Amino acid sequence: MTEPWGGEEVVERLDAETGTRIFVALHSSRLGPPTGGTRMMSYADPASARRDAMRLAEAMTYKWAAADFPRGGGKAVLSIPPGLPPEARPGLLRRYGSLLAELSGRFWTGGDVGTSSRDMDVIAETGAPYVFSRTPERGGAGGSGGWTALGVFAGVEAVCERLFGDPSPRGRRVAVQGAGSVGGALVEKLAASGARVVVADPDEGLVRGLSERLGVERRGPSELLETPADLLAPCALGGVLDSVSIPRLAVRAVAGAANDQLASADDAELLRRSGVLYAPDFVVNAGGAVAITGIESLGWTLERARQAVRGIGDTLRLVFARAEADGVTTDAAARRLAEERLSAGPAQPFGR
Ligand code: NAI
Ligand code: PHE
Repeated sequence: MTEPWGGEEVVERLDAETGTRIFVALHSSRLGPPTGGTRMMSYADPASARRDAMRLAEAMTYKWAAADFPRGGGKAVLSIPPGLPPEARPGLLRRYGSLLAELSGRFWTGGDVGTSSRDMDVIAETGAPYVFSRTPERGGAGGSGGWTALGVFAGVEAVCERLFGDPSPRGRRVAVQGAGSVGGALVEKLAASGARVVVADPDEGLVRGLSERLGVERRGPSELLETPADLLAPCALGGVLDSVSIPRLAVRAVAGAANDQLASADDAELLRRSGVLYAPDFVVNAGGAVAITGIESLGWTLERARQAVRGIGDTLRLVFARAEADGVTTDAAARRLAEERLSAGPAQPFGR
């Protein structure tokens, strides 16, 4: 996160019935209404949850701008007490939905870590019309994980082209951290393309399922970052690339879905000096947000959404070329691209 935070507002609520603290961070409405996922998890303290919402909202501003999509940056965090009983969840989601309705379009949301399409259905039951990625039975476009994986795969191809002169990941070794909704779908795509996949997740069942079905290699979560491979795809939580982990990486490139992979801005420079090509997270992981929001709010067909998501590969090629030409890190080049689009102001909604 840039310091000081350049966002617009943080709306805070205490849900007294469950002890959940709710933070809706509105970072930028420059290109369109602030839009971003709702993350539900437990945090060490309210300050960490608030900070995460602000950091993730800023990342959404850059994500929409780099994708040239008419939305602004925002994110919600529901910081639940550890061990929240499952029966308390629907009530909490409905009260959160009422808050969204009260914000009357100042924040639009979708799924994120800890929330599903079914949760979006419950939130929307309050009449909040600002909820993306509901289930198809309730008129939504469903979960975003598969679309995000498609975008990451396009990013992996752009990286392979840059490093090896051939976009195909066939025969390349790719280490995937996290086998959840995005990581699992990415492993499938990589395996189908002939890549040699190594995967880790503390959820043993997920990894076992993938390895039995696709024959991919398994690693313990603590070993994955040091696994020798061509590419690393972080698809778990943020902050995995720092001054401790970067010197231990044994890969040529990093391209994955996790939001906020760099622990600090200096880590982009450390990656560059270590000879690791970094595909900026907010460029590579835009597929889910762009596809779902395009389908639900711009009337895109599935084919139009696919084209837009595949376009992530081209954005990345542009970022790599500009980083080289300007002698800056790929992260800095991607930020410049997004900032240029932010200064230019809202474009026409594209693809209608
Ligand atoms: P998920 O919750 O479905 O999966 C995350 C997986 O990571 C879980 O299976 C978890 O057990 C695993 N994990 C946790 N710590 C780990 C570790 N140390 N090593 C290996 N695995 C670990 O989440 P989802 O939706 O797949 O998202 C993954 C990341 O991508 C998150 O950072 C999310 O913010 C980001 N993202 C997701 C998008 C989406 O469309 N779902 C869109 C853009 C970004
Ligand atoms: N979780 C998504 C992301 O981080 C946000 C999102 C999903 C936004 C679906 C809109 C619709 O990119």
